[in-house]
Parts: sequence; C-alpha cells; structure tokens
Amino acid sequence: MQRDLDAAASQLRDAQDILIISHIDADGISAGAVADITAERLGKTHEVRFEKKISEETVEAINSSEQSLVWICDLGSGYLSEFTRDGIIVTDHHVPDPRWRRKQTVLDSFTGITHLNPHVYGMDGSYEVCGAGMTYLLSKAVDPSNVDLAYLAVVGAVGDFQDSGHSGLVSLNRVIVDDASANGDLVVDHDLRFFGRETRPINQYLQFSSDPQIPGLSDNASGCLQFLDSMGIRGKDGGRWRVWNDLSSEERERATERILELVGPEQESRAFGEMYSFPNMPRGTGLRDAKEFATVLNSCGRYEDAETGLRICRGDMSALKDAERNRAEHRRHISSAMSYIKDNHLLRERRFIQWFDAGSEIKETVVGIVAGMVLSSGECARNIPIIAFADSDDGTKVSARADRRLVDRGLDLSSVMKTAAELVGGYGGGHTVAAGATIPPDKKEQFLDIVEDLVSSQVE
Ligand code: C5P
Ligand code: ZN
Repeated sequence: MQRDLDAAASQLRDAQDILIISHIDADGISAGAVADITAERLGKTHEVRFEKKISEETVEAINSSEQSLVWICDLGSGYLSEFTRDGIIVTDHHVPDPRWRRKQTVLDSFTGITHLNPHVYGMDGSYEVCGAGMTYLLSKAVDPSNVDLAYLAVVGAVGDFQDSGHSGLVSLNRVIVDDASANGDLVVDHDLRFFGRETRPINQYLQFSSDPQIPGLSDNASGCLQFLDSMGIRGKDGGRWRVWNDLSSEERERATERILELVGPEQESRAFGEMYSFPNMPRGTGLRDAKEFATVLNSCGRYEDAETGLRICRGDMSALKDAERNRAEHRRHISSAMSYIKDNHLLRERRFIQWFDAGSEIKETVVGIVAGMVLSSGECARNIPIIAFADSDDGTKVSARADRRLVDRGLDLSSVMKTAAELVGGYGGGHTVAAGATIPPDKKEQFLDIVEDLVSSQVE
C-alpha cells in the first residue's frame, strides 16, 4: 500500500490541475476536505465537487473533465470499469467493482487508474479504514506535515460507524488516531458511547440513548429526570441545561456505573468504549466530539449543502451558523421520518428481510440513516436486514442495513444490492453492513424477492 500511495503522491505532484470528486456524507466531506487542503498546499489549481453517488452523469463528468488529474474520494471503487480516461486516483473503501482488474490490459485498458482501497490489500473497508482515511494516507504520503489533517479522517471513520464493532477504532484507523493524538488534535476518552456528549442537554442525552437502549431511560423523559434526581446530579446550571461533558468526573463515574448496570453485562461492551474528542475545537459547537462533528457534516451534505461542511473542515467557523440551521433541519426531518414509519406501521416483515417504503416522505439521502436507526431502535428484529425505499429523481433509491453479527455469518449487503439491482435494471453497491441501490420504481416487489433469496443463501 505504501508503494502505491507513494506512486499516487508523485502523480499529484506532477498534475497540472486537479478535479476532486467526493461523496456527500460525513466521510465523503472529510475526505473531500483532506484532498482539497492537500491540493491547495501543493499549490495546484483545483476544484471540489460533491456527489450523492456515481451516476451516469458523474461518470461522464469524470471521463470528459478538462483537468489533468481526477481524484475521487469515498466513491468510485464500485464503478471502476466505467472510467475510460487516464489520470484517475481513487481513495475509497467501498467494495471494488469485480469487473475491474488492476493493470488490466488484455481486453480493456483501464491502466490509468490508481486504486487505493483497503480491499485491494486484504483489509476490510467497513471497519479498518474509511474513505477519508485512505485520502489522508495519500495526503501524508505527499507531505508528512499533513498529519494535522488526521483528525478529519477520524471524523470520517466515526461517521461511517467504523468504531461500532469494536467500540473504538482499530487497524489502520488506529494508526490515524495515533497520528492525530501525537499532533495534539485528538484525545481518546473512555466513556459511554451515546450520542451528544457535548451539545445535548443531559436529560435528552439519556432519553435519546440507543444502540444499546438503557432500560428505564431510553425514550422515557420522566425516567431520565428521576434518574438524575436519584443520583444527586443537577440537571441545570443557573437556568441552562448541563451536557454530559459538563458533569464532574466524579458525577460521570457514578452515573456511568449505574447506567452500565441498567444496560446489563451483555450490552456493556457496546455501551462503553472509546470516544474521540478534539480539544482544539470550541466548546458547545458539536465539533469537539467526533460523533457530533460527523453529524454536523451529515446534516450539511444530505441537505444539498456539502460546501458548508467543507468550510467547517477547513476551519472556517463562520460556517457554523449555516451548519446549525442544517442540523436543526436534519433533527426535524429524522424525527418526523421516524414517527411517519411508526405511526403508519410501514415496517413489513418477511422471513429473511424486513422493509419499508417511505415514498416521498423521507429524503433519499437520509433514508439510509433512518433505516439504520429503525434497526437499532429495539423495536424491530435485529437478526434480519432492513431494506428501505424512497423516491428519487432517477428511480427508487434503496438503502440496506444489517447488524454486524449477520455479516459474521456470511451476509454481504454490497453484493446483494449490486446483484439484485442489476437483475431489475438498476445499479448498486456499498459495504457488507450498509449498502444501497437505485432501481426502476415498478420493480420493488421483484427486487425484494431477489434480495430475500440472496440473503437467505448467504447467511448460515
Ligand atoms: O445511501 P446509503 O446511505 O444507504 O448508502 C449506503 C452505502 O452504499 C454508501 O456507502 C453508498 O456509497 C453505497 N451505495 C452505492 N451505490 C448506490 C447506493 C449506495 O455504492 N447506488
Ligand atoms: Zn465512506
């Protein structure tokens, strides 16, 4: 990998000008920012574009771009055989296109692509390193002083839930965590792993806890207030709600101990583990905690405003106001999406899969997040994957999510989405635990039948 990274670094140094294409999710925006800053520091004329996915138009834009080099981040691996031009670097972690072979020259000649993806080196792109991570490793190969961008790769990894299986980051991600912490940008905390330590009022932090749920506190507003009361922990400081990180270490330890008792020994390793803080970020912004930082980026990218996310990653704090507006919108949309599914009893269970069709009620860029939240809500089966549909401009968007334990038993949602979508005239791909597709709207039933067959044949 280091040899390939060094070769790509030379390609970047030699480029006349660079077109950077990146994904709109948290990992993609972090990756795009790392590439943007790297190109800027090299003094290259460059342009950054964010894309929801590799559509036909994106392929066309890449193949016909004027720039001497196209750098595709957190996207591209699944569609390598579509690219026909020379001068492409891909730093991605999605499952690679099986039709593409490195240095393939016999029938086709896709020799112009430098493909930097953990799968090529025998690693698993769903937890060992993410798109921003691969982009950062290339940036570091360009110039070791780009180590100050390592923390952005940590945001990307956490944004793609790469920390969820081991309650912390491992493998190549670990190397990146160590880079960021050696540079003074990151601190590893051993803490509860719930969302919102930095910005959620403590009562809501407890109430909205999920994955795992805290019996008696999750979804129980009065239970949370009673809990704080019984622990002798003040909820407010002068009229203002305290957040988890405002608690004294003694208060936090006591509360953690009690919460882990409630969660029970089986779930303890999911509830408690490593969390990543960025001590140089201003307090209360949501940028001091990696999970919250990722959510700030997601709430920009998934609402057609990835540029605001990019500005934040570039340290432009004046973008925070726009980000806050996006985040409020994201919060509203997610919460109405969750109630829409629940109130209308949309979730349907089959033998090997469960699914819902959100129609036009949930944005296609957010339906995957919602599917993941439904799966970890404790209100549906965890032992089968969830498939969600939402209307999109070019057909029906599909998002699929599964529990990691199913992947351990053989499930690969990326191949399920790719195969099933292609059989009904669509396209798809992604990761073993989270994948997606776009299919013709009138093929949903047929698609579900195929998905169910594939899932049942994969899982032991
Ligand atoms: O959109 P969603 O969050 O469900 O996507 C899950 C994963 O599947 C993402 O990593 C995305 O890039 C990938 N995907 C893909 N091809 C598609 C749709 C999604 O590779 N057509
Ligand atoms: Zn990613």
